[in-house]
Amino acid sequence: MGERKLLKEYKRLWQARKWMKKNEPFLQAWHAHLGYSLDLFKTFQVPNTPQMIAERYGYRLDLLERWVEVGVALGHLKEKRGGKVQAKKSMVTYLSKDSDQNVGVLLKEMMELHIPTMLTYRNLLQGTEVKILEEDIGYTVAETSGLLESVMFPKIADVVKKQKVKSVLDVGCGHGGYLHRLHQKFPDIKVNGIESNKEVQKLALKEAKGTNISIIEADFMNYVDQDQYDLLMMNNLLYYFTFEDRLRLFKRARKLLQPKGHLLIMSPLARSKHGQRFASGFNSFMSAHEDMYPVPTQKELTSYAKQSGFSLVTCTPVIREGGWYILVFKKK
Ligand SMILES: C[S@@+](CC[C@H](N)C(=O)[O-])C[C@H]1O[C@@H](n2cnc3c(N)ncnc32)[C@H](O)[C@@H]1O
Repeated sequence: MGERKLLKEYKRLWQARKWMKKNEPFLQAWHAHLGYSLDLFKTFQVPNTPQMIAERYGYRLDLLERWVEVGVALGHLKEKRGGKVQAKKSMVTYLSKDSDQNVGVLLKEMMELHIPTMLTYRNLLQGTEVKILEEDIGYTVAETSGLLESVMFPKIADVVKKQKVKSVLDVGCGHGGYLHRLHQKFPDIKVNGIESNKEVQKLALKEAKGTNISIIEADFMNYVDQDQYDLLMMNNLLYYFTFEDRLRLFKRARKLLQPKGHLLIMSPLARSKHGQRFASGFNSFMSAHEDMYPVPTQKELTSYAKQSGFSLVTCTPVIREGGWYILVFKKK
């Protein structure tokens, strides 16, 4: 074989290797997701043989053995004596269903919603309708958004303190995590939430039992409130609204705010300085769904603000790798 031809073949092999390597992290997510969804890490919290577990739960032994092999290769599981294996402690802590530290819902969202959606792109692009499985998406999305609370909340608390906020309305409050944190830190302020998904609102209401946090089931677009608030929040909400509706959203927000009240928006921003990879991937997912829309750019938000009587006070990157910002606007 001529030298040039050989070189060409090696280059081709190198490219194939590159894509193989790029796909390798998927194995980790696959393994973790399966382990979480069947609670296998919990099952292997104490040393067990795959055979014992397969018999106990009626699983196919050959497939369980493969999952175990992958787990050992990835370091998610450790080999013990007598053919037994044990899950690594962190896998049990963060990926067991009964652990209050578990992050399994994020894997669920990625593996059951985002990846399947991305795989439908070929058909969608060509105009074929595809039904994406959306079982309990409301619960899943509200839960994964809640994972950001510990990082985002201090920034919200700063605004509440600085602006001497006495009342807050959280629009699309999900399971009400921010409302709880606000109530705990500032017990004297009024904290209300509205949530359009009935199941999500029901759960939020249950969590708020025994407090004076109010959580109403309502679509913000038709929501009527006698009160006016010092602060209105829209956290991870904008992608539910078309570009035209976002301007209406700002106008509605303005009506519900006290003079000089503030509007706080938390969202990934498209084409921003930080997190472009994440935001562009996120937008690909959003556009593949009928009722979801791309996240905004900062320019777009400031234009809505201008048209609806707000001025931008701050725009702070909070999670740079995800392009997540908090923008604070003041009612003029
Ligand atoms: C992604 S979750 C975010 C939850 C919470 N704000 C957070 O950041 O953790 C967005 C929530 O907004 C709710 N939502 C969407 N459109 C709404 C509307 N028009 N009015 C009220 N809530 C809405 C959804 O049901 C969902 O629970």
